[in-house]
Amino acid sequence: MASPHRANVLVASNRGPVSYSLDEDGGLEAKRGGGGLVSGLSAIGADADSLWVCAALGDGDREAVRRGVGETGVRMLDIDASVHAAAYNGIANSVLWFVHHMLYQTPLEPVFDAEFRQQWEDFRTYNRAFADALAAEAADGASVLVQDYHLALVPGMLRELRPDLRIGHFSHTPWAPVDYFRLLPDDIGEELLRGILGADRAAFLTRRWADAFTGCCAEVLGGTGSTAIGVHGLGADADFLRARSHEKDVDGRMAELREQIGGSGDRRTIVRVDRTELSKNIVRGLLAYRELLDTRPEWRGRVVHIALAYPSRQDLTVYRDYMAEVRRVADEINSRYGSADWTPVVMHLKDDFARSLAAYRLADVALVNPIRDGMNLVAKEVPVVSDLGCALVLSREAGAYEELGRDAVTVNPYDVSGTAAALHEALTMPDAERAERTERLAAAATALPPQQWFIDQLHALAGATD
Ligand code: G6P
Repeated sequence: MASPHRANVLVASNRGPVSYSLDEDGGLEAKRGGGGLVSGLSAIGADADSLWVCAALGDGDREAVRRGVGETGVRMLDIDASVHAAAYNGIANSVLWFVHHMLYQTPLEPVFDAEFRQQWEDFRTYNRAFADALAAEAADGASVLVQDYHLALVPGMLRELRPDLRIGHFSHTPWAPVDYFRLLPDDIGEELLRGILGADRAAFLTRRWADAFTGCCAEVLGGTGSTAIGVHGLGADADFLRARSHEKDVDGRMAELREQIGGSGDRRTIVRVDRTELSKNIVRGLLAYRELLDTRPEWRGRVVHIALAYPSRQDLTVYRDYMAEVRRVADEINSRYGSADWTPVVMHLKDDFARSLAAYRLADVALVNPIRDGMNLVAKEVPVVSDLGCALVLSREAGAYEELGRDAVTVNPYDVSGTAAALHEALTMPDAERAERTERLAAAATALPPQQWFIDQLHALAGATD
C-alpha cells in the first residue's frame, strides 16, 4: 500500500538506524545507531522527503511495528522471523559474507544442498519484501540507495516494479575474486550479479572491490551491461569524533584503562577494536603479540595489548566458537606471562563506544590486521582521535590500505611472525615520525566524510541516468 506522502530519496538496509528492546514492564525502548549511513543521510536535511526502509531484527523491533511505534522517516519491515533468519543468518552471513571475505575452510565447506536451496528461496522472499516496500513508498523518479550483500537482489526486483526510479547499490564489503566467487552454484552467482546490475549504478568502497565485481560480471555474464560502476571511499567523521572523544564519559574510560594498563605511566599500548568477527583476524593478532613477547623479552612488562572485541552475530555457532577461541588465547598469554602487576592482554567484550574512543586516544600502536575487510573504519578513526600520535599496523587486505597504506606499517594478515615484527617496528617508531605519520593518516582518513560520501552517491546516480 502506498503512503500518501511518497519519498524522493530512499535508503534500504537490513539493519536500520534505530532498534527497539522490550523492558520488563513490556515498554519499548528505542536505541539509535551510529555509522556512516546515519550521518550520511543527515546531510540531506530533515525536510528532504527521505525514507529509510529496514528490517525488524528482534522481538522488540517486531513489537514496535505491531504497535505502530516508529520514527518519522523510518519504515521497518516485519518480515516473517523464520524467513528473516534464513535470509540473514543462512544466506547473507553464512554464504555471501563468507564468499566475499574468503572465509571457508574449503575441504569441508561450503555445501550447497537442498537446505541451501530452501534458504535461498527465503532470501528471495526477504529481498522481495524490500523491493515491494520501496516500490510503494518511492515518488516518481525517486532515488533509491540499496545497501549491501543482504539486499543484492533488490535492484533487479525493484527495476521491474518501478522502471522510473534511479537505483543505486552500494557494497560495504569486499567483492570476491572470480575464482572464489565461482564456489557459488552457477545459477546463484548469475542471479546475484544480475540482481545488483538491476541498479543504474553499483558502487564500492575501493577500486579493488569494484574491479573484482566487474571481473565477475565479465567472466560470468560477459559484462556489466548499462550499469555504471563507482567507488566512494567512506571516510571518518572528524568533527563528530573529535567532539565526542572529549566528552566526560570518555575521560572516565581513559582513567579506567590507565589503571588496567598499570605501571608508572611508561607502558606502551597496542590497541585493537573490532566486532568479534571472523574476518578481523583477532586470534592471529594475539598470536603475533605472543610471539613479540616470546622473541623480544625486553617488551615483557613494558607493553599492554588492549583488545576490545565486541560480540557480533552470536546466532551463528562459528562466531560463538571464534569468540571462545579469542578468549582462550588471551587467557593463555596472560597466564604464561602475566605477573602480579602486569596483565599483558586487557580484553573487554562488552560493546562500549566511549571506551573505544578512550582506547583510540591513548593508543601508541593500533593493530588492524583483517583477513579481508571492505574498508575498516577503525583504521581511519584512530589517527583522528589519537592524543599523541599512534602508529598504525595495517593489513594490506583492508580496503583502508588503498588510502592509508603509505603511512602505515603494513602486514600480510596470515604472517604472524611478520605481524610480530611490525608490532615491534611500530612500538619503536620515533615520536616525531609517529606524529607526522598520524597527521597524514588523519588527513587521508577524513578526505571523504560520511555526509559528502552520501551526497556524492546521489549526484552520481542522477548523472548515471540522465
Ligand atoms: C558489516 C556490513 C554491514 C553490517 C555490519 C554489522 O559492516 O557491511 O552491513 O551491518 O557489518 O553486522 P550486522 O550483521 O551486525 O549488521
